[in-house]
Amino acid sequence: MEPTNGTGTSTGSGGGSSSGPTRRTGERQSVTVRVPATSANVGSGFDCIGLALDIWNDLTVERSDVFEIAIDGEGAERLPRDESNLVVTGMRAAFKTAGKPVPTLKYTCVNRIPFARGLGSSSAAIVSGLVAGLVLTGHELPVEGEEALLQLACGIEGHPDNVAPAIYGGLQIGVHTGDRWYTSRIQMGPGLQAVLFLPDHILETSAARAVLPDKVPRKDAIFNVSRAALLANAFATGNMKELQMAMEDSLHQPYRAAQNPHLYPLVAAAIKAGSHGACLSGAGPAIFALTSGAKGDIYSQRKGERAEQIVADCMLKAAEETNAKGRIFITSPTERGAHVVSADPPFSDLRVLHFSTAGTPL
Ligand code: HSE
Repeated sequence: MEPTNGTGTSTGSGGGSSSGPTRRTGERQSVTVRVPATSANVGSGFDCIGLALDIWNDLTVERSDVFEIAIDGEGAERLPRDESNLVVTGMRAAFKTAGKPVPTLKYTCVNRIPFARGLGSSSAAIVSGLVAGLVLTGHELPVEGEEALLQLACGIEGHPDNVAPAIYGGLQIGVHTGDRWYTSRIQMGPGLQAVLFLPDHILETSAARAVLPDKVPRKDAIFNVSRAALLANAFATGNMKELQMAMEDSLHQPYRAAQNPHLYPLVAAAIKAGSHGACLSGAGPAIFALTSGAKGDIYSQRKGERAEQIVADCMLKAAEETNAKGRIFITSPTERGAHVVSADPPFSDLRVLHFSTAGTPL
């Protein structure tokens, strides 16, 4: 089961057919959902554009006699084990949508997405809770043309640039129409790599947003509109040379530079070392640089044809020079979004078709 990509191409909602009894619909005892990390803004697309990364959180939810949240991995020492955890927020929203009371549940989180670094860990929690809840309830949401899951997730998160790629994967442009959310996929070419500098310290998004002004000069708005348009065109045409300019920003990074003294030195180092462009990842404090090598998929390229290692080394050196403590993580953008790994009863059972005496499916 995987949601659609926001461009009108339905891949099914995991529900069954109305043509006969099937185990694809109905309530479930347990489910495991996998949701990707995301890097929001991509420089100029503040609060609108974001992409999914090949780093995944797994959430397993089982019906139980006792409420429990077990957390292993990133953020385990800080995340709440009570109903304030965002996986529970997502779960509650799913049950509310289904019109059912939330049963007693056991949550098991295996977190690989760095926590509170600007890589969408909150959105992943919301989306995983929502999808798991929908599977447990057996409730199907309208997908094509409505993207009801996106409406629910954005309703909780407030902006689409993490939740849209977390749900649908890929590089997404989120738009608010006035009364609903819409998202559109920008095609990415093969062979892209994301080099991330992950500071050791965390930065809560609320603190990162508190430094932003409510109003911005018109010239800064024009600066970003032109670059966000350029960003979409650079990917559409495969002209990665335009990305450096396309990822520049006047709406949030200048205000966040004081919180992130490593920002501009690392962006400059990544670009000098051969990345296509670099920026603050989401609200920070991580830095995101995009690289690629020779043509084709990254896995078919020789090391010498790729740029990510030299970019990583230069970003680390710049971090040392600015006294920013952290680590480098190299990963890839992913076109895949949230999906169900397993469920009980499973979705993959052979579907039972009922045949008429003439042998035609009813
Ligand atoms: N667009 C958001 C921001 C991403 O920059 O604050 C973090 O939620």
